[in-house]
Amino acid sequence: MSVRPLVIIPDSRLRLISEPLVRVDAKVRALVEDMFETMYDAPGIGLAAIQIGVPERVVTIDTAREGEERSPLALINPEIVTASEELSVYQEGCLSIPEYYEDVERPARVTVRFMDLNGEMQEIEADGLLATCVQHEIDHLNGVLFIDHISKLKRDRVVKRFTKVAKEKEREAGA
Ligand code: NI
Repeated sequence: MSVRPLVIIPDSRLRLISEPLVRVDAKVRALVEDMFETMYDAPGIGLAAIQIGVPERVVTIDTAREGEERSPLALINPEIVTASEELSVYQEGCLSIPEYYEDVERPARVTVRFMDLNGEMQEIEADGLLATCVQHEIDHLNGVLFIDHISKLKRDRVVKRFTKVAKEKEREAGA
């Protein structure tokens, strides 16, 4: 197991559509282990495989609070089956957009279908923070970021800031 480097905006890989998996094999289980390790190390409550540069439809989540027992959830090929009309607002962040937080409105409850680590199909109903987190991570599999749900003005501002930082890092590396 190892902590993998995170892919940060404006890296174009974050805009890729990730590929579905046909089966869960040792390679997938090793990927999931690395994702949990990377997510807990950050720390974060959710991670999509593309955030460590792997364009496969794999998500890890753990919304347990600090001090609570860990409740790791790994979802392969997750899909939203139903979403409530009722909406809720959470302040979201993303490990690919460090230290940036904004309110995002999403369906308050969703039903999610996915394959578990044993290759079995599962369905869960999520509400509260878990509902938001699942939707945020599934967005990643489709190349969508939470900043796509905020105003263009705010989005342009944050992308510009991170683009500048990336350019400075490139210059330093090249010097
Ligand atoms: Ni994210």
